[in-house]
Amino acid sequence: MDLAILRVASFIIVVHMSSILAEGATLFSELSNSLTVSATGADNTSPNGTKAGADELFVTWALSSAAQVDDSSYKTVELKLCFGVPSQIDRPWRKTNNVLSKDKTCGFNIGSPQPYNRAGNTINWLVRKEIPFAHYFVRAYVLDSAGEKVAYGQSSNAQRTSNLFRIEAISGRHASIDIAAAVFSAFSVISLLGFFFYEKTSTRGRKA
Ligand SMILES: *[C@@H]1O[C@H](CO)[C@@H](O)[C@H](O)[C@H]1NC(C)=O
Repeated sequence: MDLAILRVASFIIVVHMSSILAEGATLFSELSNSLTVSATGADNTSPNGTKAGADELFVTWALSSAAQVDDSSYKTVELKLCFGVPSQIDRPWRKTNNVLSKDKTCGFNIGSPQPYNRAGNTINWLVRKEIPFAHYFVRAYVLDSAGEKVAYGQSSNAQRTSNLFRIEAISGRHASIDIAAAVFSAFSVISLLGFFFYEKTSTRGRKA
């Protein structure tokens, strides 16, 4: 009886531990760099200056002709918009981590997942208007049938410093109006609190 409980308990612990390991141990450095990925503006123009909410990115990916890999386990492709190094400096919330579950480099989905095929695919993606101004590149992850990442390719170099492109807010005016509104509402809350405390202390002063 006790032995049975012990067995069940240790079984549960082992299952639990292995699920933690399975989730947490997928490292970016273990993925095979076997895709070529490119990103341009629509009509093959430069992607630099793409406007969020208005412009499209034209993304292509395919199995690299130089890659000597067995792609029989490749099932789906996820396209991601990722921060280049200049847009990660002093921003820990965009930090790169080799542990994929903790990596914050690639925060935005681009029309994925798609079925994998060797010849690749192209996609036109209207940049969503909430994408912030930054220097970006595009990464494609290949997933196997279990949904685990097994390979990738990206439009920048391994250091994520070359061939980056800027996405800009649709208009600078919106951002400055938002900032002004935030400043004014913070100011009004502070001044309201100020009057409140002034009122309280001065009435208390009069009573005493
Ligand atoms: C975008 O412009 C910067 C310089 O302003 C350049 O370094 C970069 O390579 C350009 N990106 C692309 C994809 O053309």
